[in-house]
Amino acid sequence: MSGHGFETRAIHAGQEPDPATGAIVAPISVSTTFAQTAVGEHQGYEYSRSGNPTRTSLESCLASLENADHALAFASGLAAEDALLRQLPVGAHVVLGNDAYGGTFRLIDKVYRPAGWTWSAADLTDVDRLADRVPDHTALIWLETPSNPALNIVDIEAVSELAHRRGARVVVDNTFATPYLQQPLAQGADAVVHSSTKYLGGHSDAVGGLVATSDDELADGLRFVQNAAGAVPSPFDCYLVLRGLKTLALRMDRHCTNARAVAEMLVAHEAVEKVLWPGLPDHPGHDIAKRQMAGFGGMVSFTMRGGESAALEMVSRTKLFTLAESLGAVESLIEHPARMTHASAADSPLAVDAALVRLSVGVETVSDLITDLEQALSI
Ligand SMILES: Cc1ncc(COP(=O)(O)O)c(C=O)c1O
Repeated sequence: MSGHGFETRAIHAGQEPDPATGAIVAPISVSTTFAQTAVGEHQGYEYSRSGNPTRTSLESCLASLENADHALAFASGLAAEDALLRQLPVGAHVVLGNDAYGGTFRLIDKVYRPAGWTWSAADLTDVDRLADRVPDHTALIWLETPSNPALNIVDIEAVSELAHRRGARVVVDNTFATPYLQQPLAQGADAVVHSSTKYLGGHSDAVGGLVATSDDELADGLRFVQNAAGAVPSPFDCYLVLRGLKTLALRMDRHCTNARAVAEMLVAHEAVEKVLWPGLPDHPGHDIAKRQMAGFGGMVSFTMRGGESAALEMVSRTKLFTLAESLGAVESLIEHPARMTHASAADSPLAVDAALVRLSVGVETVSDLITDLEQALSI
């Protein structure tokens, strides 16, 4: 499907009509095992943990969308992250953005560090000073852009250049941007990781993770862990993400326009101290975002002038924005990162401002979203 546009590949890549029946939707292939005509002779599938046709369709589609040679699907975003971290030798050093997702921090600090790996946090937005913050023995720089929940923008190309000069690899968590808005491999990253639970699935009904890479050796290692550790998604969940991908471009366009309207309303509101959305001209990462993204995304964070108590009050007053963890689906969500998604990072270098509120702006009628936020802000 190379040579076709993004939307065409999202609908067709890995999803040719089923040769047996002509079905135009990739069948949900529930069989756990596959017949062999003689020992070791089969049609490419032996056992569903090792490989499954619905999973192959999803992996092929995502590889196409990220312009990668390989993609691998996992049972959750964190399972995908775990498979990537397992590629590092025991004792390896990881540099993590100082505003990374709390679950990534928890995995590295509470699972890998006790087992012998080391890590440090760095401000990845400050590339000039980053050279001093990346120890020589660093094996991996892990970055999120836009980051969760601060919506900081990291220059993928500059960080990748620096990492490669030091012999380190770069992983980009592309969950917030999606391949529709940002293609990190083309900008020098070695691998892209996704929580497909978010925009890729897009409907809050499937937990999943994906990794994309064009590094053959890395892909072999990931495939080995995918089978050996077995954190694979169900065929039904693969189908749900595949279905979500078909409308990714349409949804992202609407997420972006709705987020712009919401961000502009918040900027003008007296109860709001600071709005964090990379599409705003005064956002410190605006120029980099303009260069490396095709749109600014559907996530908007802001701090309340009244501090933590005002933030907690506000998030409990919305009616259309549901107070809930997660993000990236058609319905709008609101949350308080310090007490919810990022509670695991409290008292760490990655702790989040308690006055911060995070919005996942959905695709509902934008005037309804704005009316809802305005009534919640008028405390
Ligand atoms: C940026 C980011 N990366 C990774 C994850 C982990 O994904 P999952 O919840 O699918 O394990 C999340 C979950 O919120 C996330 O927001």
